Amino acid sequence: MEKAELKIDYMVYEESYPEGYEDLCRAALKITENAYCAYSGFAVGAAVLMDTGEIVCGSNQENIAYPSGLCAERTALFYATSTYPGTGIKALAIAARDHGVEVDEYVTPCGACRQVMAEVIRRYGADFDVIMMGKKQTVVIKASQLLPFSFDSLKK
Ligand code: THU
Repeated sequence: MEKAELKIDYMVYEESYPEGYEDLCRAALKITENAYCAYSGFAVGAAVLMDTGEIVCGSNQENIAYPSGLCAERTALFYATSTYPGTGIKALAIAARDHGVEVDEYVTPCGACRQVMAEVIRRYGADFDVIMMGKKQTVVIKASQLLPFSFDSLKK
């Protein structure tokens, strides 16, 4: 028996946007305005930077039958890959406003969105940056680091 550890690397930015991702962060915050969050009041915006430099955005879309709604990240990622199936993804920025107010603490994606990110890595054969935004702190992490021990039946 042997004790093992996983190391997770990420960068923390205090009250600032990561360099090179300023436009992407502004786009993620802006698209929170299009969220349909009638039930939670929690508006999430996601902005995808494609390999071509184009930015594709999405927001959370809720439903009275709660599980039928979709997170901002998956809305944006599915929009991106369905519009440009041949183009890879460089980065994904996520922002949120709780009842209209930009969140202080950085917003982290749910497990289902992480699984969809894992599929993007598999599909395009490239990792990408995830920028989790908050007013106080913003974190940049590689998508692959967000879902350790992810299911991968073709690995072995
Ligand atoms: N939500 C997202 O869109 N992305 C996240 O990363 C966290 C949660 C949405 C789902 C639901 O519409 C609302 O935020 C409250 O959970």
